[in-house]
Amino acid sequence: MMEKIKVGLLGFGGIGQAHYQHYQLLEKEGSPIQLQAICDANLEQVKRVIGGEHREYDLYTKLTDMLRDDTLDYIDICLPTYLHAEASIEALRHNKHVFCEKPMALNSTECQAMIKAAEDNNRLLMIAQCLRFMTYYRYLKDCVASGRLGKVISADFFRGANPPLYSANRWMLDERLSGGGLLDLHIHDVDMIYWLFGRPEWVSAVGQNVYEGSGYDVVSAHFGYGDQKVIHAASDWSLEGDYEFQMTFRVNFERGNLVLTNEGLKENLRDGGSFIPDLDDRSGIYGEIKYFADVIRRSALIETVPLADSLSVIQLIESERASIEQNGAKIKPGWN
Ligand SMILES: NC(=O)c1ccc[n+]([C@@H]2O[C@H](COP(=O)([O-])OP(=O)(O)OC[C@H]3O[C@@H](n4cnc5c(N)ncnc54)[C@H](O)[C@@H]3O)[C@@H](O)[C@H]2O)c1
Repeated sequence: MMEKIKVGLLGFGGIGQAHYQHYQLLEKEGSPIQLQAICDANLEQVKRVIGGEHREYDLYTKLTDMLRDDTLDYIDICLPTYLHAEASIEALRHNKHVFCEKPMALNSTECQAMIKAAEDNNRLLMIAQCLRFMTYYRYLKDCVASGRLGKVISADFFRGANPPLYSANRWMLDERLSGGGLLDLHIHDVDMIYWLFGRPEWVSAVGQNVYEGSGYDVVSAHFGYGDQKVIHAASDWSLEGDYEFQMTFRVNFERGNLVLTNEGLKENLRDGGSFIPDLDDRSGIYGEIKYFADVIRRSALIETVPLADSLSVIQLIESERASIEQNGAKIKPGWN
């Protein structure tokens, strides 16, 4: 029987609990992966959510204690963003591979320190850019890469949500802790643009602050590639009231277009007709966890979310922030 990859989950809030559910699903399906330990400063919350099952897991309140378990292959980091760099580096130095939630870190300096720790300790580090594993976005990626609908003419991405007033002590609305909507929400589409089209020559962005101290809650950005295509992404997490989360795109090609709405993905063909692609509804979290465990098992390289991409995406967002501060000036991103 194949040796199981053993996981220590660090952080059991909103996204940590979503990861937990996917570990359960993967184990039920017989994937050679096993959630062995859970660490969260608030153990009561962990026990409340997992109920009697907590006897199956080793429970910790401190990463340092969980890292003493030599049998763990990787640490899955679902902590608030301001702790990503510190926790990743500590785990890598203890010889663990690390799977860390997006955004990689608060700034590119922290990202570079994380990459150095992974290299120095010869361990894998992958950032959980879940869109790269979502079937709708993989379908789009395939369409762009294969050129089956011709060249891209324009692309528009949008993400809208209620403000994260629910986060503990509103940490997500403190720019110093989360990077604000620009880094927390908008990053998904910036990562997608980077994955689809590579490095832009310039970026021009405008943004608005709505909640005190939260940074840019509303963002609208254009990405220039030195050709004619018009690439735009916007996000807004100041949509209050009974607003339903939106994750959409509209990508126009020479011979048709792909449109994602909350109803799903539709392909419209220039020469007539449209159809709904037949895609499975596996989540991005399912795909990324399965992929990371498989890369460890095969001692392979991370090809779907290379660390260099994750660093570049943070640098791109830093350029967007600079552009917003200069009233939308075109900024040439630095890629050091
Ligand atoms: N991929 C996605 O779509 C997605 C969605 C939501 C959140 N996220 C990212 O995941 C990260 C966490 O977000 P969240 O919404 O789950 O936050 P959260 O506040 O709901 O959860 C964080 C958890 O970490 C625990 N914690 C905090 N400090 C700790 C410490 N020092 N040691 C141990 N435990 C500690 C808290 O008790 C809490 O349970 C953020 O970086 C966020 O951007 C990603």
